[in-house]
Formats: sequence, structure tokens, C-alpha cells
Amino acid sequence: MCGIMGYVGPQQAAPILLDGLRRLEYRGYDSAGVAVTNGDIDVRKAEGKIDRLADLLNSSPLVGTIGIGHTRWATHGEPSDVNAHPHTDPSGEFVVVHNGIIENFQSLREELEDLGHGFMSETDTEILAHLVAREYDGDLRAAVRAAVAKAEGAYALVVMTKREPGKIVAVRRISPLIVGLGDGETFLASDIPAVLHRTRDFLIVEDGELVVVTEDGAQIEKIEGGVIDREVMHVDWDAEQAEKGGFEHFMLKEIHEQPAVVTETLAGRLDEYGNAWLEDVKFDDEFARDFDELWITACGTAYHAGLVGKEIFRRLLRIPTNVEYAHEMRYNDPLISAKSLTVAISQSGETADTLAAARLAKERGSRLLALTNVVGSTLSREADDILYTRAGPEISVASTKAYLAMLIAQYLLALRIGRVRGVVDEDLAGRVAHGLSQLPAQVEELLHQESEISAAAEAIVDADDVYFIGRGLDYAVAMEGSLKLKEISYLHSEAMPAGELKHGTLALITEGTPVIVVLTQQALYDKTISAVQEVKARGGKVIAVAYEDDDQIHKFAHRVLRVPRADDLLGPVAAVVPLQLLAYHVARLRGHDIDQPRNLAKSVTVE
Ligand code: F6R
Repeated sequence: MCGIMGYVGPQQAAPILLDGLRRLEYRGYDSAGVAVTNGDIDVRKAEGKIDRLADLLNSSPLVGTIGIGHTRWATHGEPSDVNAHPHTDPSGEFVVVHNGIIENFQSLREELEDLGHGFMSETDTEILAHLVAREYDGDLRAAVRAAVAKAEGAYALVVMTKREPGKIVAVRRISPLIVGLGDGETFLASDIPAVLHRTRDFLIVEDGELVVVTEDGAQIEKIEGGVIDREVMHVDWDAEQAEKGGFEHFMLKEIHEQPAVVTETLAGRLDEYGNAWLEDVKFDDEFARDFDELWITACGTAYHAGLVGKEIFRRLLRIPTNVEYAHEMRYNDPLISAKSLTVAISQSGETADTLAAARLAKERGSRLLALTNVVGSTLSREADDILYTRAGPEISVASTKAYLAMLIAQYLLALRIGRVRGVVDEDLAGRVAHGLSQLPAQVEELLHQESEISAAAEAIVDADDVYFIGRGLDYAVAMEGSLKLKEISYLHSEAMPAGELKHGTLALITEGTPVIVVLTQQALYDKTISAVQEVKARGGKVIAVAYEDDDQIHKFAHRVLRVPRADDLLGPVAAVVPLQLLAYHVARLRGHDIDQPRNLAKSVTVE
């Protein structure tokens, strides 16, 4: 996720911007840059680590006391010097940095090109610099308003012009933005840690607001106009807490980022009729119509996302779909048809086993689609098509938001292919699109059930073994719930299809054994309840994840974690969130290092 910095005050801006950007490094980035005004606007930017930018500033310093800075996490265009922010308009009088995605970037770019505009970079950001300059008529604030009225999406935008020195104008549409209030100087940033060592007084810019920053402070307004009287927030957090946004752990922060992640993953890619546009999925309609089998390969949590994908593709596309652990597939001589599509799923895009399986699929003639979170990762470079999940950097070793984004991306892919093949009609596509659009609000709602989840965590914290069951998509979710629990709480757990229990594992269910059942698949509800009955009859302690309007489940379960009613096909998205939180709370009660569990690494780049 990109980092933003801004400074207006009496000191030299460049060192302050650079320092702020370093403090935002934990957000992840691939390039960095700063711009300072001093009569003119000067920009320095470089791909790679901030040290490269620092070297550039040493050899070619910037003088001026007003400036903006940025660390970029690539979305549109590869990491490069040219694509790094800030970006200027053709006259060089306006400069912008931005975080997030401009959904209608392509049509805006084409409109501007028709008017004779040329662009240096592949970014959506550069368009904003052109738009603001075009709209400028002596008032930067008005120009920014007019530009953002045209730019759809979830983003934060920061603008500066030499025509109005002493001022920075910024807008927040979902992507975070804060103002730090100093003594005769004011800071702007995407996150509090950037400036926490300089001030403890902050104004939080909320979604849909515009802020004008000067050395005397900041004025916050609604984007449409109307001044807002925002209370100053005094922050007592230390720097480490601030990086975690006030959450105790990155994992919890990342779980709470999920509503925004779902919004980002969908942004600009889906209309209300279920038509999906996936910018880097390049295969044509002929391929989408003609390929005859689908392979999904991945490891760990990404594999579990693939299990959900298999069911989505099976149900929506009716295409034979295989999902294989990459470390198995690479050695099991898979019978991959040359007319197939292989989807390799990997948050990092660097997992050695996944890369090996993906290469094997390619060698056998399959078309390779990388479903990954990291722009420019090895997997994305080797693939024919790329579907970026846009979850932003995930710091906690236990994957949460990246998993959710992988699910959303697979619904999009299924819609894209299904519409072309004619197997997903308008009605179904519209229904899925509607369900997807509800998800950010639904996931948000789930995050406020901490007390029920803490109570469920208390109920299993001292268990020796925990079992997870479900059928169909619920089984796929159960697998992920079980992995989350074991990797951070170190509790032994196992997931299985609910119908499998009676074929052996039931022998282990005794008085008090926790069994977590996922129950979003209505067509299989009664069948799953039969397994729950078997558990209950042996004294097992049942914790159910069930829809909020399920009025039967309390008869069978000791505890119920409620999820908002959704279409069965979308059930896994809501159901996984309580399981992530459950794992988190159990691990916390057990006093473990949640973000860095023992023996595990974030990216497994060895076999
Ligand atoms: C578990 C987890 C791992 C990864 C796996 C694959 O929370 O994060 O199981 O999912 O190592 O990693 P990627 O997705 O980077 O290929």
C-alpha cells in the first residue's frame, strides 16, 4: 500500500519527507519520490529502496519548505523510475501523489489523449495531474474538486502547485489520510507513524473529505463543499503501536482492513450486471470459450483459496477443475491438457513450489494465469495473464486479507469467463455482482462481534485438539479456519468434510472435544446437521458459524458465531472472518507471538 507524506512549514521539506517515508516503509513499496516547491516544482524519484532516493537527493538536493512525498506499491504499471510518484502535468506546474486506484483510468486517459495529452508513465496517477491542471482557474481547491468529481475509485490524492505556494490540497476517498499539527508547521501523511515523533496532535481526514494544509494548520471540508469542524485527536501510542494503526498486532489490523480490501479488489472491475474487466487478463474471448479444463495450484492458505475457487468454477462454469498443492503437482506428472488454463495462486508470487508447478503447467502447453498480490513478482512476470488481488502488503505471517482478496478475484475471473462462454446468464451474473457489492459492509459488520468470538476462544483455548467440519464450500472454509488456528495458536486442529467424520475421526470425539462447524451452504444444511448430531451425542462441544437468521442452530451448538445472510456461493467470504478472529483470540489467550509464529516464514522461497 502506498505511503503519502506532505510538509508545509519553515524547515527544509525534503529531509522531513524522506524521514516520514522511511517510517512508512513497513507498508511495503517498490519505489519512492518527493517534490518540493520553491518558485518551481522539482521532483526526485527512484525505483527501489528509499536509500536510492536519498542518494539522489544527496547528489541533487531539493531546496524548499513545502513538499509532498510518496512510496509506491505498484498497481498500474511496473515498478520503475518513470512510474514512481510524484507525477506532474505537462507544464510541470502541478504535482500529485496518490494512493489507491482510479477505476475509470482507461476512459479518462483516452479522453485526455483525444484532447492531445501525452503521458510519460503507465500510471493512473499522472492522469490526475493532467486533470487538475486542466480544471485550474486560479483556485487549487476548486480544481481538485472538479478533478475528483471525474475520478471514480477508492483513493487518496495530494496536490501542490507553484501557482499557490504555501498550500497542499488533499482528498480522501476511502484510502486513509491524516494531518499532523505542529508549531508553525503542518504534516500530511497516509498514516500516523510517519510523523508521530514530530507531533502528537492529529486531525483525521474522513472518507469523502478534502483538506487544505498550510503552515498554520488545516481546514477540512466535504468534497462537495462545507467546512467541517474536526476535533484534534491527541495520540499516546508508541511508534510500534502506531504502525499497527492502534491494533495490538498486524494480523488484527489486516483482518480489520478486509472491508477496504474487498472494495479495492473489486474496484473498476465489475458492473452491476456481472460483467467483469480484468486489466491484465489478456486472453481473448476465443480462448475463454474454448479451453477445456482448469488447473489451480498453490500452497497453504492460497491452496485453500483455490479450493473455494474450484467450487466457484465448478458451479458457475461447469468446467472440469483440478486443484492441486503445488509441491505435489510439480512431481506427480499431472495430465494437463494443452487446451487448459492454469491458475497459480500466491500472495507473494515467490513461493518456490508454486513457481515450479506453474512452470510445469506452462511447459505442458497450458496458459498460465498468476493470481497474486505482488506486482512484478516472479510469478506475475512468468505468467501469460495476471490477476492482482490488490490486498496491499501483508505483514503478519498468517495470511488473512490476502486470502479474502484471492476469493474475490476468483469470483471475478469466473464471471469474466462465464459470461463469454454463455454459461452464466445475466440473471445469475447480476445476482453474484450484487452479492459481491454487499460484501464490504457485511465483512465490516462481522468485525464488531469481538465479544462472541472472545467467548468462543475461551471455550477452546485449553483443548488438546480442535476439529473443523463443513460440506462443499464450507469444507474449504473449514480447512482455512483450521490452518489459521494451528499456525498461530499451536493447537492441534484438523478439518474434514462433515460426512467424513463418521468414517474414523468420530472415535476421537469425547466429552468436551471442540468441533467447529461451518454452515453457510443451505442445500447441505440438514446433511451437515446430521454430523453435528453425531458430535453432540458423544459430548462434543459444538461451535457453529451460521447465518444470522438460522433459528435452528442454537438447539445443536454451544456457541454460535453469526454471519450475515449471503448467497450460498458467496458464503465463504463472510464465514472465514469469524474463524480468523477466533484463531487470533485463541493465540492471544495463549500468549503467542501472533505476527511471527514459530518456525514459519512469510514467503517460502525454498523447496
Ligand atoms: C498461512 C500462509 C501460508 C501461505 C503459503 C503460500 O497463513 O500464509 O500458508 O499461504 O506459504 O504463500 P504464498 O501465497 O505467498 O504463495
